[in-house]
Amino acid sequence: MTRRVIEPDDFIQSVAAGIAHEVRNPLNALQINLRILEQELARVLPDQDAHAYRVLKTMSSELSSLDHFVCEFLRYARPPQLRLERVALPDLLSDLATFIGPECARKQVHLQLEASPALPAVIADGFQLKHALLNLVLNSLLATPRHGTITLTAAVDSGLAHLSVRDTGEGIADDRLARVFDLFFTTREGGTGLGLPIARRIVEAHGGTLMLASSVGLGTTATIDLPLAAPPD
Ligand SMILES: Nc1ncnc2c1ncn2[C@@H]1O[C@H](COP(=O)(O)OP(=O)(O)OP(=O)(O)O)[C@@H](O)[C@H]1O
Ligand SMILES: [Mg+2]
Repeated sequence: MTRRVIEPDDFIQSVAAGIAHEVRNPLNALQINLRILEQELARVLPDQDAHAYRVLKTMSSELSSLDHFVCEFLRYARPPQLRLERVALPDLLSDLATFIGPECARKQVHLQLEASPALPAVIADGFQLKHALLNLVLNSLLATPRHGTITLTAAVDSGLAHLSVRDTGEGIADDRLARVFDLFFTTREGGTGLGLPIARRIVEAHGGTLMLASSVGLGTTATIDLPLAAPPD
């Protein structure tokens, strides 16, 4: 059986434009109207445990999932517009650790940082790069059990910066590993399968590469190699 890999192309971009208009607008209208309904219901039905509130809650959570999917798809379909700046890698990693730290602590997953403060800066879009790394860390967090470890590293050699996210999680079997960058490939309830394709697009827009290596039962390492100089136009 041959596997079809969908590439980001003109077709996907025009689908995205259609989705942005035809799905996102009614979705926003639905969310606003649901909130109005909730407020009006509160006036006539004070019992917050009533079945009607549970129905509204389910609708609201389904709409949020749909909204998340639409936003992630649009992020994938629209090639990232880079806003280049000098980015200090240790700062980037510690910002990320500050953001994700509380969630790691809640899951009792140890988060460690390995980056020398003396690393040279890269010319990159810090916001986009952080988003790519965040997708990797979120994957690790979902795969890593209590008392596991996620390690963020940054290093530089021969004109390349190397960033990695290493976890001691469940790992990925070879047949799955071959598919993780496929658009919409997910093994997770509620996953969109867009996290890794988006991360890879961001890294490639910088002229870099993103790879995953994994061993079942031992863990997974995602590695970004990035040129230190400005990415190609
Ligand atoms: N660190 C990891 N450990 C184990 N499996 C992973 C890891 N990273 C990715 N995967 C596998 O790759 C699949 C695709 O990852 P991707 O981030 O693209 O989508 P997702 O996490 O399923 O959904 P989303 O990112 O939209 O929430 C995951 O469903 C999971 O099976
Ligand atoms: Mg993900």
